[in-house]
Amino acid sequence: MENLNKKVNRVVLIGTGAVGCSYAYSMINQGVAEELVLIDVNEAKSEGEAMDLNHGIPFAPSPIKVWSGTYQDCESADLVVITAGLAQKPGETRLQLVEKNTKIFKEIIKNIMASGFDGIFLVATNPVDILTYVTWKESGLPKERVIGSGTVLDSARLRTALGQHFNMDTRNVHAYIIGEHGDTELPVWSRSSVGVERLEELPPERLNRESLENIFVNVRDAAYHIIERKGATYYGIGMSLVRITKAILNNENCILTVSSYLDGQYGHQDVFIGVPAVINRGGIREIIEIDLNAKEKQQFDHSVTVLKETMKPVI
Ligand SMILES: NC(=O)c1ccc[n+]([C@@H]2O[C@H](COP(=O)([O-])OP(=O)(O)OC[C@H]3O[C@@H](n4cnc5c(N)ncnc54)[C@H](O)[C@@H]3O)[C@@H](O)[C@H]2O)c1
Repeated sequence: MENLNKKVNRVVLIGTGAVGCSYAYSMINQGVAEELVLIDVNEAKSEGEAMDLNHGIPFAPSPIKVWSGTYQDCESADLVVITAGLAQKPGETRLQLVEKNTKIFKEIIKNIMASGFDGIFLVATNPVDILTYVTWKESGLPKERVIGSGTVLDSARLRTALGQHFNMDTRNVHAYIIGEHGDTELPVWSRSSVGVERLEELPPERLNRESLENIFVNVRDAAYHIIERKGATYYGIGMSLVRITKAILNNENCILTVSSYLDGQYGHQDVFIGVPAVINRGGIREIIEIDLNAKEKQQFDHSVTVLKETMKPVI
């Protein structure tokens, strides 16, 4: 007989602002989990969002229960996704948000852990690498089960831009941004390819170094350009978070540039930063150490230094 008590996937979302709701909307549209719980310090907001999202469920690809809940709902959650906190204002860097969002996070993590939560954390709030570290420290969970969205969005932006440049399907573009999700991030050109061709080996008439550099600068500064125009960025990160969620819940063993804890990899330790990692139901299965060239290594080291310096006053 069919087991009617089969375990369902429960995801709890903390923070139902622009990023959180874009994530929730994509989750429902992509049929990723059976239960989605919304929590926000502004309870009326999470209630209203749950009501609105529920009205789309008849058109979703698979059944899902969505409700505005409490921290107690985290107890049996497989995944808690955090998008709560302050966002960048025009001209503001991600790192400038550190103090206020760390304070908010300490409170949130305490509430989640008090429920008995023993699943995986996925953090998106900025500065994401530092807040992922805060989440790890405050929760006491193993490092493999604390994941930041890292440079997944940045790598997606790079793939989109390269796909447009070459007029190729972005799914054929393999390109990675690593480092801080912010101003010191870097592209790993030495490991990028379009279809079966390595970018660095393309002849100058098909790609010159200058256009590559322009593509990267536009990717790195994309959030500033979007915030100047519409005040915030949320669809891209919402879909990036769903991509990571699927990798976890579906035990995909796929490679994504998430913010992961370095324990000697890339010559660094005690820092969360965006690097390629294999993601599955247990969280981060392993970090992939790519051979960076001298320039890339120097840029990556700089990114680590900036994160560690920024973290000092709050950790
Ligand atoms: N990682 C990325 O790639 C990426 C991309 C875009 C935005 N972000 C970040 O995501 C975060 C959210 O951005 P947004 O545009 O959704 O902001 P927003 O202001 O629209 O939403 C934030 C939400 O957090 C809630 N909140 C605040 N304090 C809380 C608390 N203590 N407990 C529960 N909820 C609380 C607020 O009520 C609000 O609903 C920002 O830090 C932003 O910089 C990250």
